[in-house]
Amino acid sequence: MQRIAMLGSGFIGRFYADSLQGYRSRDKIVSIYSRREESSKKFAADYKVDHSTINMEESIAHPGVDVVCIALPNNLHEEAVMLCCKHKKSVMVTKPLGRNAAEAKRMLEAVESAGIFNGYLEDLVYTPKFLKAYESVKNGALGRILWAKSRETHPGPHSEWFWDLEQAGGGCILDLGCHCVEIARTYIGKDIRPVEVMCWADTQVKPIDAEDHSIALVKYENGAIGQFEVSWTFRGGLDLRDEVMGTEGTIWVNNFLRTGLEMFTTGKGADYVAEKAESNTGWLFPVGDELNELGYNHMFMDMFNALEEGKSPKETFYDGYVVNSVLDACYRSAKSKQWEPVQLDIWRGQEGVTKPSPFVEYDEEHYLVKEELTHYGARKLILKNKQSGKIFEKEM
Ligand SMILES: NC(=O)c1ccc[n+]([C@@H]2O[C@H](COP(=O)([O-])OP(=O)(O)OC[C@H]3O[C@@H](n4cnc5c(N)ncnc54)[C@H](O)[C@@H]3O)[C@@H](O)[C@H]2O)c1
Repeated sequence: MQRIAMLGSGFIGRFYADSLQGYRSRDKIVSIYSRREESSKKFAADYKVDHSTINMEESIAHPGVDVVCIALPNNLHEEAVMLCCKHKKSVMVTKPLGRNAAEAKRMLEAVESAGIFNGYLEDLVYTPKFLKAYESVKNGALGRILWAKSRETHPGPHSEWFWDLEQAGGGCILDLGCHCVEIARTYIGKDIRPVEVMCWADTQVKPIDAEDHSIALVKYENGAIGQFEVSWTFRGGLDLRDEVMGTEGTIWVNNFLRTGLEMFTTGKGADYVAEKAESNTGWLFPVGDELNELGYNHMFMDMFNALEEGKSPKETFYDGYVVNSVLDACYRSAKSKQWEPVQLDIWRGQEGVTKPSPFVEYDEEHYLVKEELTHYGARKLILKNKQSGKIFEKEM
């Protein structure tokens, strides 16, 4: 059993608590820190937590606490992590790890020199659909991954601090792009270096200093391309989709809208439908088990199993640092309108990977361009002569 201090009693703190304690789990939240007394007391009552406080260090240092779960606004992650290092408490941090790579790097170095367990709570690489899709990718069902695309768009976050650039550290690139980058990076290979990015970002709708819409390309050293589409201005709920394309196959994943559960209601007596659903009348797309669909259960299982076995979880502060570094490059590119290099002072993956030959061998003299079966029943090969470069058809 792990005894947890939850820092933050808001939106994600409650999702985490529901996941940690909602399934007869053996782990238990024993301390809750929140900014305001009434919310820490309410959370303590709702989740039967013995200790509640408005002093962050008191919660972390609480002698009954084994592991600290940070569910605070982005500008408070570093302070909380440093206190966990001071008190030598295992620590898990929600996304994004830092407001930028410099913060993330300081946190990574601090937990590693303190020798404490560190987990990066990137739930979207733990959704049941992601886990299944990733297994197929790993087993080679898609061949060599060429393009991994991830979209998270919704009508905007639920608390004031997200909209304040100083506290949040960025707009939708940081808030949502962090998920998308880690999803694409995992499909492409976490040991493959992200080398450069091209990013468009704009503030199209909201009266804020940050971007509310962005699209970016992330180039990897093996020639694969990652792509993200993120928005705080999208209407129609929470759109959470991934696409993976390889030389031998394709996977499309829809995590949230249109997942197979569809409902119509006039609205009489309707209530909560799903995160950021926007509406609770008309045709709706409820989500069967949000905690599970969003990956929280599998994520915490991996985190706590790793902690107990003295191993690293699948997602660590190092991953959070790489993600922040990619996103920093996106911000630079959105300004410069150029491809910008990803600066990674700490890199633990493969070095000097080259792009594999794109050509498929047919025989000694030819490459295969394509095999075709036409609507009139002809089977043919399109071949290219290696010497002359001539492309021609061969009937089968
Ligand atoms: N899918 C996900 O993984 C996911 C989803 C939502 C949010 N998050 C992350 O979780 C963190 C918290 O987001 P949230 O949505 O729970 O926010 P929230 O506003 O709903 O809750 C924030 C909590 O932090 C506490 N807090 C302490 N000091 C604060 C301060 N100075 N200002 C504001 N709040 C303060 C508040 O009391 C509150 O309990 C963020 O880093 C966010 O990016 C992750």
